[in-house]
Amino acid sequence: MSNLDPPPALRQAIRRKLLRWYDRNARDLPWRRRSAAPYAQWVAEIMLQQTQVQTVIPYYERFMKRFPNVRALAAASDDELLRHWQGLGYYRRAANLHKAAKQLAATGCDMPDSADALRTLPGIGRYTAGAIASIAFNERAPVVDGNVTRVFARLFNISQDVSTPDTVRQLWATAECLLPTRRCGDFNQALMELGALICTPTTPRCDDCPLERNCQARALNTQSLLPVKRKSRAVPEVHHVVILAQCNGAILVTKRPPDGLWGGLWEFPNTECDSPRHSLNKLLATHALPPSAPVERIGTITHRLTHRLMHFNAFHCQVASKTPARWVRAAHLADLPMSTACRKLLALMKS
Ligand code: ADE
Repeated sequence: MSNLDPPPALRQAIRRKLLRWYDRNARDLPWRRRSAAPYAQWVAEIMLQQTQVQTVIPYYERFMKRFPNVRALAAASDDELLRHWQGLGYYRRAANLHKAAKQLAATGCDMPDSADALRTLPGIGRYTAGAIASIAFNERAPVVDGNVTRVFARLFNISQDVSTPDTVRQLWATAECLLPTRRCGDFNQALMELGALICTPTTPRCDDCPLERNCQARALNTQSLLPVKRKSRAVPEVHHVVILAQCNGAILVTKRPPDGLWGGLWEFPNTECDSPRHSLNKLLATHALPPSAPVERIGTITHRLTHRLMHFNAFHCQVASKTPARWVRAAHLADLPMSTACRKLLALMKS
């Protein structure tokens, strides 16, 4: 491995150049505009896990307007919280945020004021704790995410797999030793920003990079080969049948269990299947649906998640009388928190 213990002069040069670049180039993002209040940073960092900045912005603005502090968030119903999260994905994040807010409100405590204490809350790992603590409290807490990993892999020409525990440990140690004693939050955000704007996964903008002269990959022309990552496994494909059952303008919906994929969201009755016909009959029976008219196939939607590719084979079924279940008027479905896959199914039925 090349230099992962940068000498003091190099550390200083990296800090100086990066902060100067950040002062001139930082994007005007809503969580940067707000005070550095830990709650505002917490919400932002949770939303930014696995999600692009541009996707997060409108969600963040709406969320902060409706839940401006821990108390407001703790008092929210599950449905209302999920309504503000629907479409953002990884719903476990919302459930953990809610759980943590309720814990804090129940003990009358403010948010923890150190990275170590933040990590005791559900949903906050080392990266998120470091980001909140450095930005909100200027704590000298490092951050390593995908962006920072890419920047370091190139800056120090790290040629081994960045996902091995040994390399991960070294990346964290590097992030820690590079941190300045002041402006820790800005330094961490500058690293993330450099990864997002300049040191991009493909075609990095090396000519515009403040660290160009310090970058080992640039000198060796290896930037397009880095970082090296273990090949991800092919994602499995799964097939579901789904019923859009209608009765006098109302549609049958069911609520998903609180844990697991799309936890707590509403959906249309569906089941994973090998054989659509058999599964459809089973599904009709499970939901006590005696179709008064033939069941009609309306099409398939495909929904890609990080770890699986899902196909929903949708059927429409007109029912004469409502079964004892939750039937919602089509116009009111918009008020229920649902996954993007379910919204696609709804659009399919309407078309
Ligand atoms: N990605 C993760 N945290 C971020 C932040 N605070 N600003 C911009 N991008 C981020």
